[in-house]
Formats: sequence, C-alpha cells, structure tokens
Amino acid sequence: MIHGKNIVWHDTNIKQEDREALLQQKSVVLWFTGLSGSGKSTIANAVEKRLAALGRLTYLLDGDNVRHGLNKDLGFGVSDRVENIRRIAEVCKLFLDAGIITLTAFISPLAADRENARQLMGDRFIEVFVDCSLKACESRDPKGLYKKARAGEIKDFTGIDSPYEKPVNPEIVIISDKQSIEDCVDDIINYLLAQGHFK
Ligand code: PPS
Repeated sequence: MIHGKNIVWHDTNIKQEDREALLQQKSVVLWFTGLSGSGKSTIANAVEKRLAALGRLTYLLDGDNVRHGLNKDLGFGVSDRVENIRRIAEVCKLFLDAGIITLTAFISPLAADRENARQLMGDRFIEVFVDCSLKACESRDPKGLYKKARAGEIKDFTGIDSPYEKPVNPEIVIISDKQSIEDCVDDIINYLLAQGHFK
C-alpha cells in the first residue's frame, strides 16, 4: 500500500461552511445499515425524495450501484467488504465537504467498519439501523438472492454464511417490517430538523 510520502495537503479558498451557507443546509451523512432486503434502499430513496421536495441538495450512494463502478473490483469476502466501506466512508467525507445531505445504503455488516466511518465524519455521521428479521428479509427475497444462498449458489451471503453485527447505539432505528415507509421517512426528517440540518 502507498502511504502519504511526499504528499502535502492543500487548503482551498472555498470551504465546507461556504458551500453550506450557499445551500442553506448543514451537510450530514445518513448511514443506513441492515440486512439485504431489509429496506435500506427503499427507505433511503423515500427520504431523499422528501428532502428534494423540501428543496435540499442530496445524493444517494447505493450498494448495488457503487459496486457497478467505483467498487466493481470488490467481492463479498471480509477484506473486500472492509475496503468497500472504507472507500464509501471516504467518498462520504468528500460529500460532507461539498455541503450535501448524503444517504448511503450499504449492508455495512461489521461494527468496526461503521465505527471507522463515524470517526471519519464525527457528529455529521448518523447511523440509521434498518432493523428487520432475517426471516422477514428472507421471505421478501426481492432479488432471489437468499434462495440462491440457501442453495449454495452464492457464498458469503450476509445473514446466511457471513455475519451481520447489529448496531449497538444507532442514532435512529427503523423497524421496517412494522413501520410504514411514510412513518420511517417522518422519523428521519424530524431527526434532521431537530438537529438543525435545515429549516
Ligand atoms: S457490504 O456488505 O456493505 O459490502 O455490501 P453492499 O456493498 O451493501 O452490497 C450488498 C448488495 O449486494 C448484493 N449481494 C450480496 N449481499 C450480501 N452478501 C452477498 N454475498 C451478496 N452478493 C450480492 C445484494 O443485492 C445487496 O444489496 P441489498 O440492497 O443489501 O439487498
């Protein structure tokens, strides 16, 4: 691995606070985590739609999509998942600097990786645990992946033969097999309003 030898940080004239003032919002990362099929993407999309309707500048980074481009060299073994989340966290840090309200929808199964992301972003990191039982995710099976994993056609599948470590102290918990999507969106928007991310 190449470290930062002979690399010097350049300060920029225009800073995060300038961009935030322009956008009239305080940037933040809503970090959705949960099992495959738990509803991360669906809820993050609904939150983003509501934020757009409120005139906020947002960006949604979604696991499947990012794995088509930036992270297409990564698989689902532990070291690749660690690298996946490390890169996403760095991208989120850039988006924070850009003043954008960022939403991420990655399984992000390991607590240590989510903790690293939190360390990188400080109080701008909001962990949203999309809590849904494995049983419910498996019965939904929107992409037919659980069926394939049970049949041994996919290895290292989260919740089957690869771990998911539940968040211990997330800022927001969504019970996606009990709450309606509108209810989940309300909870998250109210949290952002209470924290003063926009008016
Ligand atoms: S991770 O664990 O955060 O690195 O995963 P992520 O980048 O979010 O990618 C998860 C999506 O990839 C599909 N998929 C798998 N998920 C889990 N385990 C295995 N082995 C796997 N293989 C493919 C699946 O569509 C996940 O999307 P979601 O939206 O979570 O269902």
